[in-house]
Amino acid sequence: MTVTPARSANPVENRRTFAIISHPDAGKTTLTEKLLLFGGAIHAAGEVRARGANRRARSDWMKIEQARGISVTSSVMTFERDGITFNLLDTPGHEDFSEDTYRTLTAVDSAVMVIDAAKGIEAQTKKLFEVCRLRDVPIITFINKVDREGKDPFELLDEVADTLALDVAPLNWPAGLGGEFTGLYDLKRRRFHKPDGSDSRLAGDVEAVDGLDDPRIDALAGPMAERLREQAELAEGGYAELDVAQYRAGSLTPVIFGSALKDFGVVDLIDALAAMAPSPRAQPALPAAVDPNAAQVSGFVFKVQANMNPQHRDRIAFLRLASGRFRRGMKLKQMSTGKQIAINSPIFFFAQDREIADEAFPGDIIGIPNHGVLRVGDTLVEKDDLTFTGIPNFAPEILRRVKLDDPTKSKQLKTALTDMAEEGVTQLFKPALGSQWIVGVVGQLQLEVLISRLEAEYRVAASFEPSPYETARWISGEPAAMKAFMDEHRSAMAEDRDGAPVFMARDSWELNFITGRFPDIKFSATRERA
Ligand code: G4P
Repeated sequence: MTVTPARSANPVENRRTFAIISHPDAGKTTLTEKLLLFGGAIHAAGEVRARGANRRARSDWMKIEQARGISVTSSVMTFERDGITFNLLDTPGHEDFSEDTYRTLTAVDSAVMVIDAAKGIEAQTKKLFEVCRLRDVPIITFINKVDREGKDPFELLDEVADTLALDVAPLNWPAGLGGEFTGLYDLKRRRFHKPDGSDSRLAGDVEAVDGLDDPRIDALAGPMAERLREQAELAEGGYAELDVAQYRAGSLTPVIFGSALKDFGVVDLIDALAAMAPSPRAQPALPAAVDPNAAQVSGFVFKVQANMNPQHRDRIAFLRLASGRFRRGMKLKQMSTGKQIAINSPIFFFAQDREIADEAFPGDIIGIPNHGVLRVGDTLVEKDDLTFTGIPNFAPEILRRVKLDDPTKSKQLKTALTDMAEEGVTQLFKPALGSQWIVGVVGQLQLEVLISRLEAEYRVAASFEPSPYETARWISGEPAAMKAFMDEHRSAMAEDRDGAPVFMARDSWELNFITGRFPDIKFSATRERA
């Protein structure tokens, strides 16, 4: 198979920037911990959680996160193994946070899809997969929890192939599942990974064998040896050959069976990412896509997070570098304003702590502390103008008016709402008529986060009132057609915080009706910043 060389003189080639997509409970957190553990970034599994818990304890608004048992914030973790730098971008798994998650997926070059062997493909996995497909993000599938009773491996592979319309190429095969599990056979490298034999059944040694006919398989796989031989032969004959070009084009997924909890398949996954996953790719931009090997430093902000440190009211903008060699202290131009920004204390997100970065390369993520200047979708360049594309805002599915308990706090409310809109937590619309701001979110949980943060960070007590509208669309068209439309629908018009015109509809029926009546107007469910 043709693979990216594991180590190259070009640092760009040695980077793998990826995300894990999964349905809640499939094992993403456990797998993340183990990737960091085997990647040498942390010394004991469980630290991702512990660190999360510490952080949560320090920050009031994240109480919701604890109460709902979900991860609202997303972060970046960097680890290195065998000369390859892995940047793992965490995506919040809860469906309400799809907007944030979608944008994180604009910043990766590949993804790992974790599936629970007992459950197969679940709703959220499918949704996230569709986003990856839109952007041709190649996917390695990790079928987790083989140490537990699960579906038959053939059934799981067929489910992936049928549901996602992908060719599947298994890289390894489990010898039994659940109580019968006796190890994993590596179909490509011809070796057997067995449990260590203790009661905890953690992964033990890896032993090289001469293929499935090797008699050592009988000793290694024990009572499962015959079944393993039969199934693995069928699998080798019945599924696609591992074709790296097809994987990178997004039409084939290599599949690894494993158990994140018991350490099976984790190193195989790291090896597969190192060998096959694409290094940083050209990023879509205007006037032309940006090659990662281009000389000038450029990048885009895909996420902004406020108040990571409660002592300072700071914000961190997460910048994905797209080209050039970034050095601390550089000045970069913000394309939307033309302002020069000195990046004096960029942050690398090593798993244990934030570290000051001296230099970074395409594919790396750096955190830029700032006071609200940088926004999601921003392009930063060293000198030559360009604008990255494809970092969308999504049309809100819930629109609410904000009601203040104490009307004298309206200034604080406006600051808070603007801040939160800049972070991309919510969207903010100013109606053409009337003065009450309308807040738009994609999911209900975002509203709870908003109320909780208003109280904790801005000392503003507020609640939501229903607005007459249910959904919104950005509109565009010829000036005359736009004017006619806006005049006729003045009471349903608003502006987003960039001043772009938005039509608010009472329900989907009305939206369909109006869309049909005005073929000259384009109604968009997403908007990219110009
Ligand atoms: P998530 O981030 O995708 O939501 O999943 P997470 O890693 O939190 O895992 C969900 C549950 O599945 C956890 O159990 C975890 O221990 C378990 N799990 C993860 N990987 C494996 C595996 O390979 N085998 C088995 N048997 N279980 C696995 P929990 O009881 O909900 O949480 P905890 O009390 O163990 O932390």
